[in-house]
This record gives sequence, C-alpha cells and structure tokens, in this order.
Amino acid sequence: MLKGKKIVLGVTGGIAAYKAVDLTSRLKKAGADVCVVMTEHAQEFVRPLTFKEISGHKVATSMWAGNAEFSVEHIALAKWADLYLVAPATANIIAKMAHGIADDLLSTTLLAMKGPVILCPAMNTDMLENQATVANLTALRHRGVTVMPPAEGMLACDTVGGGRLPEPRDIVSFVDCFLGENGGDLAGLKIMVTAGETQEPVDPVRFIGNRSSGKMGYAIAKAAASRGADVLLIAGSVNLHDPFGVKIIKTVTTEEMLDACLKNYDKMDVVIKAAAVADYRPAKATPQKIKKGDEALSLSLVKTPDILAELGAKKKDQILIGFAAETENLIENAKKKIGKKNLDMIVANDITAEGAGFNADTNVVRFIFPDGKVLPLEKMDKADVAERLLDIMIADLRAYRKK
Ligand code: CTP
Repeated sequence: MLKGKKIVLGVTGGIAAYKAVDLTSRLKKAGADVCVVMTEHAQEFVRPLTFKEISGHKVATSMWAGNAEFSVEHIALAKWADLYLVAPATANIIAKMAHGIADDLLSTTLLAMKGPVILCPAMNTDMLENQATVANLTALRHRGVTVMPPAEGMLACDTVGGGRLPEPRDIVSFVDCFLGENGGDLAGLKIMVTAGETQEPVDPVRFIGNRSSGKMGYAIAKAAASRGADVLLIAGSVNLHDPFGVKIIKTVTTEEMLDACLKNYDKMDVVIKAAAVADYRPAKATPQKIKKGDEALSLSLVKTPDILAELGAKKKDQILIGFAAETENLIENAKKKIGKKNLDMIVANDITAEGAGFNADTNVVRFIFPDGKVLPLEKMDKADVAERLLDIMIADLRAYRKK
C-alpha cells in the first residue's frame, strides 16, 4: 500500500529524531515518496542534509528559507501529501496542533493539511501522562488524527516506561496497515494464515518437527494486513518478529494448531496454510528426559491429524489455499493434494530449487489450480510471492468459485 504514496514526514525535536532517518529510508524502500519537514529543534539532533540525501527531496525547515521545492510551501506540501506522518511527535507539537497554533513551517503545514495525519508521540513518561498531553491527544483523536501508541522501554532520560518512539520497522507497518484499511483491495476480508513448524514432543527436551522458518506465511499475513484484510495468523514455532496489525495465536503441536484453525474457520473468507506440519508424533511423549543407553532407540510414531484435509472436508464458502513442499514430481504430487484436501489452489514449492529452501528470503513457486492450470513464477522475494498469491486469490479464485 505504500507504493507511490506521497508522505510528508514531520520531524520534531526529540532525541528519537535520529530514528526518523531509518524511517525515511524504510518508507522509501517500500515505494513511498517522502518529503521531510523539520522543526528548528529537530535540526539540533539531525542535520537536514541527512534527510535530503535519503529522501531525494529538499528538506523544508523554515517559512522564510527561500529555497523551497514548492511555492507557498506550507500549502503546497499539505496539498501534495497523501498522508502527514509526524515522528517523533513531541509534547510541544501535540499541544500546538491541539490548539491550532501555527508558528513554524511544520505546525503551519499541519494546520493546512486536510488529508490523514498520523502522530507517533515520543517523550518522557511523565510528560506523556501529564493531563495536558492526555487531553491534547484525546482532542486530536476526536478530530480524526490517528495516534500510534508509543512503545515502552528504556528512555533517554534513564527511566523505563511508556513514551519510546516505536521501531521504524513497526511505524512503517502501522502506516501500511492504516493505508490498507483506508482503501486496500482486501478490506473487509477475513483471512487466516498458518505459518512455521509444528513440534511434537518426544520428551521434555526433544521434539519431532519440520524445517521451516515461517518466513513465507509471515510474509503473506503481513501483506494481507497491509492490503486491508482482517488477518489471523496461527503460528507454529518461529523465530520472527510479530507482524504489526495481525492477530496471532501461537501454537506448538499439530493438535494445538488444528484446534486454533477449527475454532476460527467458520468466520473466515480465506485460509492460506503455509505451515509445515509434522505428519507424525511419538505415540507417547515421556515425562522425563530419555537417557541415552548403549542400545539403539526406537520410537513408535502415530499419525497427526491432517489439518488442511479436515478444513477441506468442512469447507463451505471459504477459499482454501495449501502449500506443497516437494523434492520430486512437484506438479504431479501437488495436483494430488488439491483433490485430496479439497483446495482452490496450491502453491507448489520444489524445496531443492536454488533460491527456494526453508530459511531463504526468496522462493520459487508454481500456483496450481483444480482444473490443472499451472502458473509458474520466477524466483522472487517471499514478500513478492505473497503479493502475487493475494493478487491471484482476489482475482482468479473468485471467478473460479462462481463457475
Ligand atoms: N498439512 C496439514 N496438516 C498435516 C500435513 C500437512 O495441514 N498434517 C498442510 C500443509 O500446511 C500444506 C499442505 O497440507 O498446506 C501440504 O503439506 P505437505 O507437507 O506438502 O504434504 P503432506 O500432506 O504432509 O504430504 P507428504 O508429506 O506426503 O508430501
């Protein structure tokens, strides 16, 4: 949702101003066009030149600078912007906004802004909790300004509490979700995604599992949320940052994942099962650690439930998409799974292909449909595979279901 969006980034004078540099870079990488406006105090922390180099635009710093990229700059910037993001937003700018004070370029552009505004407050906890700040933020919220909740943690003043500027990565996701909810093509859809591996305990320290980083499923959940969907992520074991704007249920075993999927299945419009599910579990997990002896050890394994097959059997109007991880006969094996699990599409994955694999950031997949049609994609980032999958889901699959 950030691609092609015009964002004015207002940077005010807090120690977290340095994080706005990374934020600018991340917004640019996500495809946004970013113009930075700085207050005088912000320039004490970071030089405008840094933002100019990263944003590719002159940095607006003063009503009287005379070197503006836009004429009548405060009005032109407000008209240009699809979104005005203030990060960090100090108590001072929040107070000025709440009272309509326009005494520098940043506050004047904000007053002229008719489009959406997001504030990322960052300040000492006592200042954040001061009744004046609380009242100002409440007034702004009532006027339609969106406030991203500050993070908690160690503050520059050596105290621990609320008031930290969230990490730039999270601010970008917040903005992405905000733009998605306000016009994303998946707005109104409920999508459940599973990701990561399930683990079946052998004893308190060992388990049977699959190799899976969870990156593919997490990329799908993140992309769907940024396009406006209401996303529930059922995660197995992963070592990944929780994606912003996504509800998450964490599970360990296949039974737990099945239970979470079944409880939420009826409410869903779409289910995408990217999880690597352990197909077998020890018949009995021992309560104490198994000590090694001289003899070979045999484990008796029983089958776990096939979650996707159960969802396929119970399917009503949901669009059901599975993954197939194969090492041979990719298309043939994947096609069998479509029928067996009553799927609308399968994403077939040759895990031996260069650029595919479990921990890779890229993937090489083929989309296969119930009528046998195969759509191969070239090697691409998992984030791009996620976007293509959602594109196909929203366009082709709806048409398929109508037939
Ligand atoms: N799956 C599942 N529950 C299982 C096994 C697999 O929900 N117990 C789902 C996976 O999430 C995936 C699809 O089924 O979307 C195919 O998984 P895969 O491991 O490729 O195939 P299996 O059905 O397990 O068959 P096989 O291991 O024989 O290839």
